[in-house]
Amino acid sequence: MRMVDIIEKKRNGNELSTEEIQFFINGYTKGEIPDYQVSSLLMAIFFQGMTERERADLTMAMVRSGDQIDLSAIHGIKVDKHSTGGVGDTTTLVLGPLVASVGVPVAKMSGRGLGHTGGTIDKLESVPGFHVEIDNQEFIELVNRNKLAVIGQSGNLTPADKKLYALRDVTATVDSIPLIASSIMSKKIAAGADAIVLDVKTGAGAFMKTREEARQLAEAMVRIGNQVGRKTMAIISDMSQPLGYAIGNALEVKEAMDTLKGEGPKDLTELCLTLGSYMVLLAEQANTLEEAREKLLTSIQNGSALQTFRTFLAAQGGDASVVDQPNKLPQAKYQIDLPAKEDGYIAEMEADSIGTAAMWLGAGRATKESTIDLAVGLVLKKKIGDEVKKGESIVTIYSNREDVEDVKEKLYESIKISKEKVTAPTLIYEVISK
Ligand code: URA
Ligand code: CA
Repeated sequence: MRMVDIIEKKRNGNELSTEEIQFFINGYTKGEIPDYQVSSLLMAIFFQGMTERERADLTMAMVRSGDQIDLSAIHGIKVDKHSTGGVGDTTTLVLGPLVASVGVPVAKMSGRGLGHTGGTIDKLESVPGFHVEIDNQEFIELVNRNKLAVIGQSGNLTPADKKLYALRDVTATVDSIPLIASSIMSKKIAAGADAIVLDVKTGAGAFMKTREEARQLAEAMVRIGNQVGRKTMAIISDMSQPLGYAIGNALEVKEAMDTLKGEGPKDLTELCLTLGSYMVLLAEQANTLEEAREKLLTSIQNGSALQTFRTFLAAQGGDASVVDQPNKLPQAKYQIDLPAKEDGYIAEMEADSIGTAAMWLGAGRATKESTIDLAVGLVLKKKIGDEVKKGESIVTIYSNREDVEDVKEKLYESIKISKEKVTAPTLIYEVISK
């Protein structure tokens, strides 16, 4: 087999065989096929697309390029959730304990990564003592015992995807639905998921700016999952504004605990109940969506969701008393309000740039070398559609530096106030299961 023939075949709009896809992924992972040929093939895929069969083959070839986590020793159906990235998206912190509390095993492998705030592990590390340095054996035992554990990402998961993603980044081939869909799905499958619930975000703060693009990506991922024997479904949710109120590490842990107590923001609570219901259904812990939702609501009301969170924290060295005394979480030195400059209604809260403001405070990493300040971030006081009076606080800035003029300026640019009434955006646009 020759790479040049594979490139030509795709360039001409033809379907690659399973063997051809395997050949190019194998060769590229081993360093036997050069970047320039793979770049060329990526561009051909960008223009010609891929059939459903090709997408499934590409996904599985990337899964086989590295380690595959074996979760078979964990009892039950392991359902993983993936979000295509949002701002202040606290759902993972809530969903883990929430669905675990009704019997769904959650074996979460998570990362740190770059972004507006830290990853799930960074956020959880704001709980004093909490750590993810557990070995695979302990991880599996903890999930079997408590239904929930979190472990750091293992070294060699989907190396083909890592190389390809880096190459796509510099060859203008990131924005391709088949390439994005297979990239995301390969990581979930390699991490051992039996079933997958996807939250595809759309809006200003999202990777997919329009609903049509979000739908295409969601459908592509659901089809890949179902082709390769992983029950998969997706929802498309709004990211025109940040989710919930808190954006920051310790601040989001506090928000997650409030939500587990039934006192969380309406949008975050609703999204978690929706995603959680599908997770419970796919894990076969309920027969209908209504039954699943009922179970989750009961678990919040009777305290078992919160108790599961306490048990999980303590099992990984964390001080579970933060649940009742959230002031034990890292606290920022300064709390500075952002006053509204006029009366009106909040018309825009551009999620992406509000996230950037949080990063400037130190809540997230701009580069791999940056250190994170777990205490800092933003807490929104208003959301789109809310009425606001001149001088009233729109956002509270949690900072460890006194001068936050840059952050204030960024926030004023991101938030628009209108004289006319504004309706709040729809949170969940649609559900895709085929
Ligand atoms: N996120 C991924 O993991 N892969 C992509 O290709 C794009 C976004
Ligand atoms: Ca939030």
